[in-house]
Amino acid sequence: MSNVVVLVDDLVKVYPGNIVAVNHLSFKVYEGEVYGLIGPNGAGKTTTLRIIATLLKPTSGKVIVAGYDVVKEAEKVRKLISYLPEEAGAYKNLTGLEYLEFIAGFYAENKRELEDMVEEAIRISGLGDKIYEKISTYSKGMKRRLLVARTLMVKPKLAILDEPTSGLDVVHAVHVRNIIKNYARSYGVTVLLSSHNMLEVEYLCDRIGIIHKGVLRLEGDPKKLLHEYNASNLEELFSKLVEEHAQETYS
Ligand SMILES: Nc1ncnc2c1ncn2[C@@H]1O[C@H](COP(=O)(O)OP(=O)(O)OP(=O)(O)O)[C@@H](O)[C@H]1O
Ligand SMILES: [Mg+2]
Repeated sequence: MSNVVVLVDDLVKVYPGNIVAVNHLSFKVYEGEVYGLIGPNGAGKTTTLRIIATLLKPTSGKVIVAGYDVVKEAEKVRKLISYLPEEAGAYKNLTGLEYLEFIAGFYAENKRELEDMVEEAIRISGLGDKIYEKISTYSKGMKRRLLVARTLMVKPKLAILDEPTSGLDVVHAVHVRNIIKNYARSYGVTVLLSSHNMLEVEYLCDRIGIIHKGVLRLEGDPKKLLHEYNASNLEELFSKLVEEHAQETYS
């Protein structure tokens, strides 16, 4: 039996104003796995990822990362994870390189390790000579690539990536996907991501969880799910499920 890296058990998150964002959600992510959370806008993906990343407190339920409780042992969890927020800023007055060196400084034990980390990040980012330029001159996609690189370069036990390729052009999205896959395969990094790109999740994810209105609707290996539901692609399956669920909840 593989080790469970993320255990989400009966998780509920209610925001002020009685907005139920996550509604008794349970799932597990195993070691070395790439798990994709998919669901329409407002489904509760970001809320769930932020709770797992210790940035938001659950209303009820339990979340355990590598054996540690995200509320009671948040410090321990933070040491094991690396989180790419949905919308993140980077220090604009630094160059890309200075930013990476700054972040690597928190993780690396010595100069050699820091240099290796930064070199790796430059490769992941695909920014080339742009790495010497100020972040304020970067396009949206270039900033995103810098942040993806920052998140992965530390080779965390668990990488939590909220829409990692959003805003990237096709070539760079493919590059980033391959890197994520390679990190899971080569370094045993467990990846939990969210995405709106069905091609991406089909290519990348060992398992997916489809959530709608904070409820897990379906879970499994994307290829097996397509076969099981006799759907030709994930977009079709996804739309069918979400429509069915909407009818159930409104009728
Ligand atoms: N800070 C907040 N305060 C109040 N309600 C919030 C807050 N953040 C999110 N919500 C609500 O919680 C629900 C889930 O939002 P969440 O951001 O988790 O969805 P999501 O699945 O990430 O959507 P998207 O695909 O658009 O990123 C939505 O109804 C949203 O309006
Ligand atoms: Mg979101």
